[in-house]
Amino acid sequence: MNMQYTAKIAGTGMYAPKRIVNNFDLEKMVDTSDEWIRTRTGMFERHFVADDEAASDLATHAAHKALEAAKLRVRDIDLIIVGSVTSDHAFPSTACIVQKNLGAKSCMAFDVSAGCSGFLYASDIARQFIENGSVEHALVIGVEVLSRFTNWEDRGTCVLFGDGSGAAMISRAKSTDIGRIIDTHMEADGTYGNLLIQPAGGSRLPATDETVREHKHTVHMEGNRIFKLAVKSMYNQCETVLKRNNWDVKSIDWLISHQANLRIIESLGNKLKIDPKKVIINIEKYANTSAASIPIALDEAVRAGKIRRGDVVLMTAFGAGLTSGAMLIRF
Ligand code: UT7
Repeated sequence: MNMQYTAKIAGTGMYAPKRIVNNFDLEKMVDTSDEWIRTRTGMFERHFVADDEAASDLATHAAHKALEAAKLRVRDIDLIIVGSVTSDHAFPSTACIVQKNLGAKSCMAFDVSAGCSGFLYASDIARQFIENGSVEHALVIGVEVLSRFTNWEDRGTCVLFGDGSGAAMISRAKSTDIGRIIDTHMEADGTYGNLLIQPAGGSRLPATDETVREHKHTVHMEGNRIFKLAVKSMYNQCETVLKRNNWDVKSIDWLISHQANLRIIESLGNKLKIDPKKVIINIEKYANTSAASIPIALDEAVRAGKIRRGDVVLMTAFGAGLTSGAMLIRF
């Protein structure tokens, strides 16, 4: 590979909307219990947007924080990539709305649809723009507003999701920087696409009274099958990047996995044989925020002083597509 430059994470930010809904609130809305949700998923609270908030609003808040953390100005941004499956509109992209909100210059801006792997996919694309020398600073955001795509008559899915956004400034590393993205590996297997899908609202099944009545504009998921595929594919992608770089799991300071289910995160940790103290978990506070879950967990861990400059972080995700990926970074 002809790599002129290396890419690093220069700063992170996150935003969760103000309204918090906990498991006891959900008990009043659907046939569920705090006990079921906690033991099956590890979730307790989730944040939901206000009526006048959409994905670009959440994304813009997180972007400002990432810029500030990276000590960069809006005019430094050369590229904006948003990972999301719950964009403001089918078009224009949320990235273009964020660009307008920030008042950023006329840089390239686009969305990536990779489900819960959206942030890692977007980061990998940004990394390649930086490594080939075409951009110096990329704003990468994972944002979801899944509360707008929830079927409140399906208790198997409606308790699982929350809204939020996380952002990272991915920048060209200086020769004196120790931080850099070491390696990435992304995959997809479209044959499993129907296991996690919003069936209507696209060109296959446009909106009609019937599609709305039948909740076809909401999340449809075969949870059990997804669970097994999630552990297997995240493990495989982690192993690929570790082996390719001759790294032992003991060299990893922190594992940040997509926060879909505590039992998935624990199974993955056990399979990788990583010390549980090195696994970052915040699912109890945000539930599953899809593409936002990794950058939210990353930002929280950095601001809490857990992840420090020089630490090696392994991030891995799994989501609709089915997509999956892993990213190995020295922070
Ligand atoms: O982020 C994208 C990727 N998504 C995922 O990775 C999600 C992966 N899947 C999962 O996390 C789990 O499969 C779920 C949390 C979705 C479901 O947990 P489970 O242990 O696989 O439960 P289940 O679907 O097998 O259902 C077990 C029982 C059923 O009752 P019966 O048939 O045994 O009587 C369900 O009806 O739990 C029942 N149930 C609930 N009960 C109370 C399902 N949802 C609920 C609920 N409250 N909310």
